[in-house]
Amino acid sequence: MSIPALADSGLVLRDLAKSYGPVAAVRGIDLTIAPGETVALLGPNGAGKSTTIDMILGLAPPDAGSVTLFGSTPARAVADGRVGGMLQTGQLISELSVRELVAMVAALYPRALPVDEVLAVTGAERFAAQRTTKLSGGQSQRTRFAMALVANPDLLVLDEPTAALDVEGRHDFWASMSEVARQGKTILFATHYLEEADSYADRIVLMARGRVVADGAATDIKSRVGGKTIRATLPGVDLDALRSLAGVTGALRRGEAVTLACSDGDAALRSLLGTYPAARDLEVRGAGLEEAFLELVTEDEDEETAP
Ligand SMILES: Nc1ncnc2c1ncn2[C@@H]1O[C@H](COP(=O)(O)OP(=O)(O)OP(=O)(O)O)[C@@H](O)[C@H]1O
Ligand SMILES: [Mg+2]
Repeated sequence: MSIPALADSGLVLRDLAKSYGPVAAVRGIDLTIAPGETVALLGPNGAGKSTTIDMILGLAPPDAGSVTLFGSTPARAVADGRVGGMLQTGQLISELSVRELVAMVAALYPRALPVDEVLAVTGAERFAAQRTTKLSGGQSQRTRFAMALVANPDLLVLDEPTAALDVEGRHDFWASMSEVARQGKTILFATHYLEEADSYADRIVLMARGRVVADGAATDIKSRVGGKTIRATLPGVDLDALRSLAGVTGALRRGEAVTLACSDGDAALRSLLGTYPAARDLEVRGAGLEEAFLELVTEDEDEETAP
């Protein structure tokens, strides 16, 4: 039999959805992450990253769809210590030192790592004797990381792990993380930062407004969202023709105005004017991440409303 066991399939999300009252936070996500992959969940504020992560960790029930972790439910996988989560918010238990807290978590899991080893790899050993109420933001983040890691999980799910860290702290954090990734663990982390996703993930899943709007190798996503945007007034030209111009990766239209997403802004501008001299009101802009997200989402919504 060559059918791979479900248990080997890592993380599988199927048509996952969740609303908070009228807010559709997650609107139908399909995603498969193979064991050993490091994946960044990239997106602007409110994209639905934390809601997705909460459902993966079994902290929030989906309205629709399913989460499968190594062939079982989130609750089962978390109880077995196969999944370690690091949340964006939440207090650490007070009245304990960092070492005591990490040891307490370790005691809950069957295949926990030695506490000292985890304190060392996460850089928490320097303040291990300190009370959890006396920690800086960066130290709290390291403590959370140690708590996620000590169960020796196969999958680590981290919600903006470097949010409270300064530049040096970020660097140290990712050095620890890379070490953990080398041990073959599967890692999913949420971030706002394209650079962070590009540097530390094999693959980027771009989310906006509750949907996955792009999913691919970091280099591929970077070229899609890191390029220039050209806007022009150009009536009556087919979008597919614009998409085939040199340096252009995407095109959309609103009335007479077209917007081109470009991998190479210079080449795109030359080919646009060479092919369509009637193009006017030209605007070339560096596509910031937020802007690129908006373009991708608009594209997505245009497709939805298409007949
Ligand atoms: N507990 C909640 N009650 C009501 N609305 C919520 C709740 N949690 C999230 N939302 C809403 O759901 C949407 C998605 O939020 P979510 O926290 O998942 O986004 P995010 O991508 O993690 O954003 P950020 O980058 O700011 O952390 C937002 O519109 C948010 O306001
Ligand atoms: Mg969030």
